[in-house]
Amino acid sequence: MTIAQTLDRAASIEDLRLIASRKLPRMVFDYIDGASGSEATARRNRSAFDAFHLRQEILVDLSRRNVETTLFGERVALPMVIGPTGMNGAYWVQGDLCLARAAKAESIPFVMSTAATVGLAPLVEAAGPLRWFQLYMLRDRGLARALLERVHGAGFKVLQLTGDTAVVGRRNRDVRNGFTLPFRWSMRKLFDTARRPRWAWQMLREGSPTLRLFAEVVGDVPTGATISEVMQHQINDAFTWHDLEWLRSAWPGQLVLKGVASREHARMALEAGVNGIVVSNHGGRQLDGAGSTIEALPEVVEAVAGRMTILIDSGFRHGADIAKAIALGADAVQLGRPTLYGLAAGGEAGVRHALGILATEFDCAMALAGATTVAELRGRASAAM
Ligand code: FNR
Repeated sequence: MTIAQTLDRAASIEDLRLIASRKLPRMVFDYIDGASGSEATARRNRSAFDAFHLRQEILVDLSRRNVETTLFGERVALPMVIGPTGMNGAYWVQGDLCLARAAKAESIPFVMSTAATVGLAPLVEAAGPLRWFQLYMLRDRGLARALLERVHGAGFKVLQLTGDTAVVGRRNRDVRNGFTLPFRWSMRKLFDTARRPRWAWQMLREGSPTLRLFAEVVGDVPTGATISEVMQHQINDAFTWHDLEWLRSAWPGQLVLKGVASREHARMALEAGVNGIVVSNHGGRQLDGAGSTIEALPEVVEAVAGRMTILIDSGFRHGADIAKAIALGADAVQLGRPTLYGLAAGGEAGVRHALGILATEFDCAMALAGATTVAELRGRASAAM
């Protein structure tokens, strides 16, 4: 079957997930799909959507609808952002570029991760003007400043500081699978990979992906360790709210704090002078046992009171989930795994397919809730009784 034929049969993000599970070796699929500890937070991220209802409307003129919105003064075609993810080159060859091109084609922002498997220059070439950058605060402030200067010089206008990863969550699937950089092969893994010839061929041709951007910035990256261990080695685990002031002064563009989970965080972020937040628990990959993001959203929206941009992620798999977040007061939703499942299923075409599914579902949910624009959707959800 061709890639196009495979994608044609995928009606939902779950369908893309199943295709991804067949196309990727187990250790790679588990790196995307897994979460930390007992994975309770990842499950809660999904089940919590049931705690909110969209209000069904009838007999409304829905003949003219528009799903565009504005983020940080820029028009975007959908209230969606492709969020930052690391190791994208392990899911499809040049995965970072596929994601960036798909976002450009759909006129939505793409967030490049510090853990990208390409350097800045090729990414800038592939990405559109809506390119944002995600920072894992480095231990060496001088290197961090130099990176920020390069990123700003390369035309990235929005910076997201990921605040929930000072200590990297323990992801049991990766430990069990021995998912290391570079890949460490065993007979079992070789056998598993032999059953995924397209992936194996891609990786044979291109070689094992590396954390290219990290290597560009910090020089030596340890090898033979799990990705979490490599990240832990570089991420500054002493960076505090106080240090956020330093980052505010070092970054001249829009600054977004990712990992906000409560009204207190939202207030502190406002005081620190950031321009936006991502309500996020890293897709359940960090603090196992933390609450869902959709449940935290209402109190965050109340605390922010329209004074900064509110993005949200973690567990969004349907257009109706996105509609609920917008109805509850978010400005847009960031996507982690949904677009990665698409990437693994079919490269750039697969990412566009994932976005197409979510766009169609979102438009449908928005309309059936009686709204013809993203702004009209506000307030059209409530807590289930
Ligand atoms: C991530 N995430 C992430 N976040 C970040 O700030 N920098 C990064 O490099 C990564 N890397 C990464 C890799 C993979 C494989 C996943 C699944 C996630 C977290 C990501 O940005 C986002 O917060 C979650 O993925 C959102 O949850 P969903 O959409 O995956 O449920």
